[in-house]
Amino acid sequence: MKKNFYKPFILVIIIASVLLLSNCDDNTDDPDYILNVVSLKEHFKDHFLIGNIMNPGSVASEKLKHHYNVLTAENDMKPDKINPNRGSYNFRTADNMVKTAIDSGFLVVGHTLLWHSQIPSWHRSVNSSNAKGYMETYIKDVVGHFKGKIYSWDVINEAFPDGGYNGDWKTSMRNENPWYSALGSDFVYYSFLAARQADSGAILYYNDYNLNMSSKAKMVHDMVRDVNIRYKNAYPGADRLLIEGIGMQGHHNTGVTAASIKASIDLFRQLGVRISISELDVLSQTWSEYSAQNALTETGKTKAAQLYGDYFKVFIANSDIIERVTFWGVNDSESWRSRAAPLIFSGDMAKSSYHKIIDSLK
Ligand code: XIL
Repeated sequence: MKKNFYKPFILVIIIASVLLLSNCDDNTDDPDYILNVVSLKEHFKDHFLIGNIMNPGSVASEKLKHHYNVLTAENDMKPDKINPNRGSYNFRTADNMVKTAIDSGFLVVGHTLLWHSQIPSWHRSVNSSNAKGYMETYIKDVVGHFKGKIYSWDVINEAFPDGGYNGDWKTSMRNENPWYSALGSDFVYYSFLAARQADSGAILYYNDYNLNMSSKAKMVHDMVRDVNIRYKNAYPGADRLLIEGIGMQGHHNTGVTAASIKASIDLFRQLGVRISISELDVLSQTWSEYSAQNALTETGKTKAAQLYGDYFKVFIANSDIIERVTFWGVNDSESWRSRAAPLIFSGDMAKSSYHKIIDSLK
């Protein structure tokens, strides 16, 4: 009697297990599976480096190794993580990641030294009498610590606001940037100089978003031009620029045209600098749809894929000066803007955005 009582339950458990297992099919045979599709770094090897972000758990993953040859720490090399208090550093997480990345064959981008966000409170409390010395020591310590390991440094991140330009970059910077508040525009020259002196092997970048906007691109252009002239006058024998590269982050949306990106690349080209597309992702929505938290549409997703292809055509046409294209995340669910499906993989599967990118090089 007891035996027969349990029988139906056992049967249900067996059927449920079979159903569960058949649903757990891991897709690794699918041609669109991330490790089966053409490697992005191979596909673009004659044009530019292809990058992505690293976090402590992901740095040596096969997915990163298959597609990318350069990594930027998503958060763990930012000032708040590395330098919680003045003069005291917390390099352990970053050191482990950088070592694993290099041992796995990646180049590493240092991101970032001076910013207004994700910084420790001591950065916010500098004043006009102590800021220059504090800043130079901090840069010497951090860049010196990683000397020889970093391919390029984002020395300054996001120092300009969006919006109109009055024609004088020196008075147009963001007041939230504590170094600008304390030192005025001179902080740009002194910070890049300190980074150059701490590791002359690293390529020094200025990094910012919305650089497809013509007014913001012009501010950055004028700053880079003037700072590099100042350096040339102070060091006439120098055979390199001080600000050698401009990082165009590339946090785009379906309202951003390829033509607007091309126009800024054309402007920056006149400076003799190199360019990296340093944080590429494209919302499957316009900015206002994203801000309003609208639901995604198929039209928006198709548009984002189309734009990925269009942007890459511009990057390829300018690959003589574009040294790197870095995506800000591998798949949509891991993205900092995940609700707008901005990346080129979904789960472990290539999206049409991936295919448009591949097809842009024919
Ligand atoms: C983002 C990270 O992806 C998020 O995890 C974090 O919460 C905020 O910062 N510009 C930058 C990057 O330079 O460092 C930012 O990264 C995205 C915008």
